[in-house]
Amino acid sequence: MINILSILMLSSLLGTSVSLANMDALKKDFQRPDSIPFPDDNQYSAAKYKLGWTLFFDPRLSTSDFISCASCHNPGLAWGDGMATATGHGMNKLGRRTPTILNLAWGELMMWDGREDSLESQALGPIQAAGEMNMPLDTLLPKLKAIAGYGPLFKAAFGDSEVTADRIGKAIATYERKVVSGQAPFDNWIKGDDDAISDSAKRGFALFNGKANCAVCHSGWRFTDDGFHDIGVNSDDLGRGKILEIEELNHTFKTPTLRNVDQRAPYTHNGSEKTLIDIIDLYNEGGRIKRPTVSEEVRELGLNRQEKVDLVEFLKSLTSDDPAMSIPTLPH
Ligand code: HEC
Ligand code: HEC
Repeated sequence: MINILSILMLSSLLGTSVSLANMDALKKDFQRPDSIPFPDDNQYSAAKYKLGWTLFFDPRLSTSDFISCASCHNPGLAWGDGMATATGHGMNKLGRRTPTILNLAWGELMMWDGREDSLESQALGPIQAAGEMNMPLDTLLPKLKAIAGYGPLFKAAFGDSEVTADRIGKAIATYERKVVSGQAPFDNWIKGDDDAISDSAKRGFALFNGKANCAVCHSGWRFTDDGFHDIGVNSDDLGRGKILEIEELNHTFKTPTLRNVDQRAPYTHNGSEKTLIDIIDLYNEGGRIKRPTVSEEVRELGLNRQEKVDLVEFLKSLTSDDPAMSIPTLPH
């Protein structure tokens, strides 16, 4: 990530002269893609999207008729729930925070610990999990079949009105792939509008790629390497280490996207950092907890107050002003 070009660009932001070509080289690393990728075995269609959108918002996918995917992945809270850790069926407190579902079409492994490898398979997890929606599939399928209005939605999406778990997963995944954060001030800036972000945010971008060493993990336009790292969060959760039973991976979690991140406090897999300044303090200290698994890329940074503020201003420039997601009319 840190190459000669980026170093040149940093000096340009800090006031030294540098050619426009070098500046553009680093900005290219963060350019948005033109289209959303869909897998071969689950291509996009408007009918599949509509079915997935409806299922995502339908609380009848839970035993209590009370919890939908959107109860936890709330579009009004940047597709999280605003809580330190999620609350599911029967007010069950889950051990981890609800991550956003923004921009997952480009994601590789799903969940904080990467235990699911597609959006299709992931969708069936929370429906059945006792502590989340608590809905066994052999109860859900006849329940949805009995809702007459779902027949035409399944037929339009898949050719006939049969309700299967595979189709539910495919439809929800199709909907989720279209949940993409919009154009943010940062995007306008890298496209050439110099006034789109503040000078403080520009300094923050330079720090992010330089002294603060953030871009080594938060890379690309989604600001994630899709990798797993221990950043020294105050938590006993073994994360990916437990899934793969590899000690070196203990306490590692998936790098979250930083798009629209200022709308998603509190932060980290257990919500233990309340604000963006708090999480920057975590990095500045080289992690809250020093343990052998903490990444070598996380180390004391020696940031001063202004530099911390600049980083926060930069992070805020990644937030898009998206139109409110409309809520589907649920079929009867
Ligand atoms: C009770 C709250 C709750 C409900 C309901 C819920 N989720 Fe989640 N979701 C979570 C939590 C918590 C995680 C992270 C769990 C983990 O990593 O162990 C998560 C993870 C995810 C992820 C992975 C995101 C990533 O970055 O890897 C996706 C996708 C997702 N949920 C989609 C859904 C869908 C689709 C539904 C409905 C079928 C749903 N969720 C219902 C709380 C919820
Ligand atoms: C070694 C890789 C790595 C480096 C370096 C790194 N991060 Fe992270 N970042 C992560 C991972 C992994 C998480 C999630 C950790 C967890 O929950 O246990 C995370 C979480 C975050 C979060 C919380 C997001 C959320 O939704 O919870 C923010 C904000 C953040 N990082 C910003 C930064 C900034 C700013 C820097 C530079 C000062 C930085 N990161 C450096 C990997 C990294």
